This record gives sequence, C-alpha cells and structure tokens, in this order.
Amino acid sequence: MHLLHNAVCVGGPILFLLLFVSPSPLCCSSWWGGVQMGPPDPILGVSEAFKRDTSPKKMNLGVGAYRDDHGKPFVLDCVRKAEALIASKQLDKEYLAIGGLGDFTKSCAQLALGADSEVLKSGRNITVQTISGTGSLCIGANFLSRFHSASRDVYLPKPSWGNHTPIFRDAGMQLKAYRYYDPSTCGFDFNGALDDISKMPEKSVIMLHACAHNPTGVDPKPEQWKEIADLVKKRDLLVFFDMAYQGFASGDIDRDAWAVRHFIEQGHKIVLSQSFAKNMGLYGERVGGFTVVCNDAEEAKRVESQLKILIRPMYSNPPMNGARIAATILNTPDLYKIWLEEVHGMANRIIKMREQLAANLKNEGSTLDWQHVIDQIGMFCFTGLKPEQVERLTKEFSVYMTKDGRISMAGVTSSNVGYLAHGIHAVTK
Ligand SMILES: Cc1ncc(COP(=O)(O)O)c(C=O)c1O
Ligand SMILES: *[C@@H]1O[C@H](CO)[C@@H](O)[C@H](O)[C@H]1NC(C)=O
Repeated sequence: MHLLHNAVCVGGPILFLLLFVSPSPLCCSSWWGGVQMGPPDPILGVSEAFKRDTSPKKMNLGVGAYRDDHGKPFVLDCVRKAEALIASKQLDKEYLAIGGLGDFTKSCAQLALGADSEVLKSGRNITVQTISGTGSLCIGANFLSRFHSASRDVYLPKPSWGNHTPIFRDAGMQLKAYRYYDPSTCGFDFNGALDDISKMPEKSVIMLHACAHNPTGVDPKPEQWKEIADLVKKRDLLVFFDMAYQGFASGDIDRDAWAVRHFIEQGHKIVLSQSFAKNMGLYGERVGGFTVVCNDAEEAKRVESQLKILIRPMYSNPPMNGARIAATILNTPDLYKIWLEEVHGMANRIIKMREQLAANLKNEGSTLDWQHVIDQIGMFCFTGLKPEQVERLTKEFSVYMTKDGRISMAGVTSSNVGYLAHGIHAVTK
C-alpha cells in the first residue's frame, strides 16, 4: 500500500497504465464473493407476492398488524393525543439513560405485574426499555447466555413465533421444544405439554407466551396455567414470558396478564419481555421492556448493572419518542382511559370477525367443525389448512397467508369476511 501510494503521487498516468494491463487486478477482487444468497423472510415474502397480485379482491393475511374495519392501518386516538401533548411541551432531545426513560419503565412493569404488585413494592424488580418486543427478547437471550450458567437449554412451544429461534440461537443458547399445539383439535395439547415439561432437565429455560400465542391463537385456560406453574416449579425451570399482546387477546389488560401474575404469586422469578407494538399500535416506534424479577432489591441492583453493561455496546441507549408516547398514555388518567377502550375495541373487532368467519363458513355449506376459529384468541388464527390448500387459496382466490395455515384475523373485515369464507370452503370441501 505504501509503495502504491508513492507511485500514485509520482507517476499517476504510468501506474494507471500498469494497473490496466496488470494480470492480477488489484481493484476488482470482491470481499463478499463467498457470501451466499439467504432465503427470504417467509412473512415478508408473502407481502411481496401480495403486492404483485392485481386482483381487486386480494387479501393479505400474512402480516400481524392491526387493521380497522376498512382494512386501513389504525393509529389510536390516545396516541395522537399523547403526541400532541408531547409536542406542546417542547421537550429536548438529549440521550436517554442506558436503561431508557424512567417514567416508561416504571409504568411498563406496573402494567404487566399490576400496580400493587409485591415485587414492585419490595423493589426486587428491574425493567429496562428495549427496542420493542424483539429487542427485549434479544437482551433477555443475551442476558441468559451470559449469566444463566446452570443451563443453555431453552424450550420453545411447538410451534412458536418464528423469530424466537434465531434470537436465542444467535445469543448462543441451545434450542429445544415442548408439545403445545394439537393439530387434531386445533387446540392446546395440554397433556403433551405437561408430559414434556415433566421431562425437562432442571434449571432449563421455558418460553411461555403470556397470552394470544403466536402463531396458533391457542392459550392454556387458567386452570391449566395453574398446573403448568406447579410443574414448572417442581422441575425448577427458569420461566421466560413473552408478552407481545397484553390487552389484545381478551380486550382486558388484567385478564391477559393473569398467567404472568399467577406465576409470580407462586414464587416464580420470571424474566419478561413486553411489546407495545400491538396493544398501542406503536409498531414502528419500537417500544418495549425487559423485566427481571429478582430475589431481593440488592440482587435487582446487580442485575441492573449487568443489563446496562450488555446494552451499552449494542446501541448505547434506546430511542425516546415511542417511550414518551407510551409513558404519556400510561401516566395520564384521561389518555389511559381512552387507551383501555381502544384496546378493547381492537380485540372486540377481531373476536367479531372470528364469529363471522365461522358463521359464513357454515352458510357456505361447510360441514367441517370451525369452532377453533372462535375459540382461538388474539391476532392470529391457525386455520388447520394444509399447505396445498393454502396454495390453492392464494392461487385461485388471491388470499395471501403463511404456509402453516395461519391467518392474521386483523386483516379480515366486514366486507371481505364473506369472500374469505367462500375461498376457504372451496379449498376444504
Ligand atoms: C410472540 C411475539 N413476540 C414478540 C414479538 C415482537 O414484536 P415487536 O418486536 O414488533 O414488538 C411478536 C410480534 O409479532 C410476537 O408475535
Ligand atoms: C421497580 O418498580 C418500582 C415501582 O414501579 C419503580 O419505581 C422502580 O424504578 C423499579 N426498579 C427498577 C430498578 O426498575
């Protein structure tokens, strides 16, 4: 390099000629020649194919983002009002702390654990603000990788959210699975889950979806949760709760947090990931939290120090805008009230669409049992459609969804639910 630099300085044109005829091309070799093309993201791939389709009846049921009954993205009124309030305050744009906005993390933990939670009162909690639910899982996975030396094993429900696998794998954890979904009933495989949990090595990590399980829409009932909590305690497992849909499942934020609170009451020291993407419609704002329930306040301090050490080299500190919006909603009584109503409204619209889809299938003359469409909960419905049926539904009816037969109920509206039922019946009769 040194020589070359000198040559350029003294004899530019001559060197240019030399390079031009040189058999070893200094300028043309590639750093990334060995990089192979990776597979496209399965869900984004569905959206790409949807965009290319010119049918006026096309439906995109792949992506998990809420739509109103006209099929349009929905910004909550409480969010618009919080934004206006924040704008009126002319706040500065200084860095947040490594752990994020205090007003946000405090109310984030209260929302999940309940305002009168013993954990919060005794100060054995630590919550950091994260880059939505994904960032929270990532911080959590890396924290486990660094400090949960008792076991590398993370047991995911079968199936689980697709991103869980790479998040934990990239953090150096070992992925295992437990039975969860029963294709024969399109419901929860309770006995299978208990059986598998009873065989997990002690100190393993078990991932539980707090509510509105993605992708199946199948949740344990409270009585089943109680048995799971007892067994998990017997096996001495570390519980990782992923709560990406609080309020979105039943419409009631307390009801959806029931499992998390029950485990804590039973003495489980859980770790918890929260997202405000769905329940506040803050998808692109990337607002979330990661909480560790500790033994005591002193342990919480130590854990907090290590979470900061983990976060600092990753992104230094989280973005402030979304956290300000969420904190304003959670801490302003008028806005909080509007939010609860709006969460309830979103969940209710989805519940209504489930009922209408099942009713329309019946009207179409389907003799199959579609009760699971109604019984499942949250954004997604695991229809039970086979890959060939999904393919036909897409090809013949321009209905786009993932190959596993999952549809996002949020993309179903009063005006297209009949068409969807017609298509599903056509490919399943
Ligand atoms: C189960 C589950 N966990 C976490 C997330 C995280 O989403 P986000 O990073 O947008 O908050 C999602 C989103 O689809 C999810 O379904
Ligand atoms: C624990 O919770 C309390 C009450 O919500 C809060 O004031 C405190 O900041 C939390 N502690 C940490 C370290 O997050």
